[in-house]
Amino acid sequence: MFKIGFFQFEPKFGEVATNLAKVLSTLQHVEADVIVLPELAFTGYYFQDRSELMSMAEDPETSATIDGLTRLCRDRDFFLVTGFAERCADKLFNSALLIGPGGVLRNYRKLHLFNTEKDYFDPGDTPLETTDVRGAKIGMMVCFDWAFPEVARILSLQGADIVCHPSNLVLDWCQKAMVTRCLENAVFAVTANRIGADVRPHGELKFTGQSQVTAPKGEIVHRAAPDAEELYIAEIDLSLARNKLLTPKNNAFQDRRPEFYAALSQANK
Ligand code: ACM
Repeated sequence: MFKIGFFQFEPKFGEVATNLAKVLSTLQHVEADVIVLPELAFTGYYFQDRSELMSMAEDPETSATIDGLTRLCRDRDFFLVTGFAERCADKLFNSALLIGPGGVLRNYRKLHLFNTEKDYFDPGDTPLETTDVRGAKIGMMVCFDWAFPEVARILSLQGADIVCHPSNLVLDWCQKAMVTRCLENAVFAVTANRIGADVRPHGELKFTGQSQVTAPKGEIVHRAAPDAEELYIAEIDLSLARNKLLTPKNNAFQDRRPEFYAALSQANK
């Protein structure tokens, strides 16, 4: 069995060292293969503008936050998927990083920016690919990517067993939608949301918690509370994500008719 879960908590806006200390202390005795943290888990979410984000975003190559997380992975012998405010020269990405005992294994930059994120982040430019972790194929997407079913589909077509999904959800549609994303792709998903609010001079955003582990037949393995911190680890059977049969005669992948789907790959007008 593969041990995967999430840590749902309330990052404090702009307090990167405090948020890192919280994650390091909470996870220091955990046994798992992979733990998923929320989107933008160390900076908080609701930036005023691009210059504020620029002042907090880090280059993964030189990031003290990533060094701390890598040490944790080495000490505990597990892997983390975390949301991360990434600076790359003059670009700023809302990223998900897969980190293991040897450092960052993959960086996925959010393709579908939500609402005011468009004012300060650059749209992602990394491909949808999977990474092997202890016999599991891990795919990553970030929060609002849930609303574009192509993302979970492509990760699943690349062989993903588990879609790791750092999130900062403010609406309550996603958890329901993930039931369908998992069912139509016969894949597991771990949606790690945050709780609490970012109260800022330009307004307040409240986050909806209810982090969720969803199984390939659309079962909700576990859903956290909307407002309580929780560390949750599930034991999952990866073989369930490798059986793509929806009925004895219907295979979710082999029954597709891509010759009728050309509109999906046309550029936006
Ligand atoms: C979101 O994409 N953070 C809603």
